[in-house]
Amino acid sequence: MDTIIRKLDVNKIDSDIIDEASEILKRGGMVAFPTETVYGLGADALDETASAKIYKAKGRPSDNPLIVHISNKNQLYRIVESVPETAEKLINKFWPGPMTIILKKNDIVPKGTTGGLDTVAIRMPGHQVALELIERSGVLIAAPSANISGRPSPTTAQHVKEDLSGRIDMILDGGEVGIGIESTIVDLTDDVPVILRPGYITKEMLENVVGRVDIDKGLIVPDESIKPKAPGMKYRHYAPKADFTMFNGNMEDVVNHINEEAVKRINEGKSVGIIASEETKDMYKYGNIQVIGTRLDEDTIAHNLYGILRGFDAADVDIIYGETFEKSGLGQAIMNRLQKAAGYHIEDV
Ligand code: TXA
Ligand code: MG
Repeated sequence: MDTIIRKLDVNKIDSDIIDEASEILKRGGMVAFPTETVYGLGADALDETASAKIYKAKGRPSDNPLIVHISNKNQLYRIVESVPETAEKLINKFWPGPMTIILKKNDIVPKGTTGGLDTVAIRMPGHQVALELIERSGVLIAAPSANISGRPSPTTAQHVKEDLSGRIDMILDGGEVGIGIESTIVDLTDDVPVILRPGYITKEMLENVVGRVDIDKGLIVPDESIKPKAPGMKYRHYAPKADFTMFNGNMEDVVNHINEEAVKRINEGKSVGIIASEETKDMYKYGNIQVIGTRLDEDTIAHNLYGILRGFDAADVDIIYGETFEKSGLGQAIMNRLQKAAGYHIEDV
């Protein structure tokens, strides 16, 4: 299949292009589009045959449910059994934006879209291209991140093209995304909201609106006995091709250790990628050194995370060494993604 690629100016969206994409969605095809978090691969969420195509294009396990993207609140009432008070409060505060909620679905939503579950994940993205595409097509769009399953999520249209060109109908290129890591997933099917995947909206931000919020126990330890409640969180994910190890400890010790390890590996003929921060970048001596962002502004780290992992794939490095980051606030989401990318390979120094 030839993949059509259309560039869009986010400040002046060409409605002809949105109409072209809408036609594809309406006839059951697939369109990749930008959101404020990462690029999504979209198809009609209420058409089981259409959403099945997404699983095939990504090579995604069929038990891993999709998020349904909506552009207005009425669409939410159409697809769920009921909307509890906590949901109303969170929606009013954080939508459109990087928060996905889980509620009991009704019969309109096919189980092919929800991985066989009787709940559904819903989000109203904070991106004008995504919102206009949903609004003008009238299609509720099922969309996972637009990467081949297991690879780092795409933050540019180029990343989508690398993974999915020839497998999908269209890519809408709206430039680089703003946030760079996926939405926070909050399960609202019980009395106390539970975070199933940390994201840009932090636990503290949610608690400020609804009081107590828990974190899914399956997220905290990579322990086989406690399965994460979001099926997708159990897979090795966001993974670069190289062996990735993170080192944890006093910053100077970490840098010294990475320098020592890097020189050893390079002498063995390996190519080594290093994930540095703005604060430490000048202290590294060897390898392919990439700055992920500054510790003073975690947004910069989230923004560059996936691009750096993909960059190391493109540079064909054999080994990646990286520093760890604080786990509070947005750091929780950042460390969740880095730990998974490293297959939980973290060593104390
Ligand atoms: O920011 C985002 O959320 C991006 C953009 C494109 O919107 N989407 C995204 O989708 O990250 P995906 O498919 O890569 O991740 C969705 C996650 C998976 O871990 C999946 O298991 C979980 O959401 N999920 C979806 N529906 C669920 C449900 N009903 N119950 C529990 N987890 C669910
Ligand atoms: Mg994903």
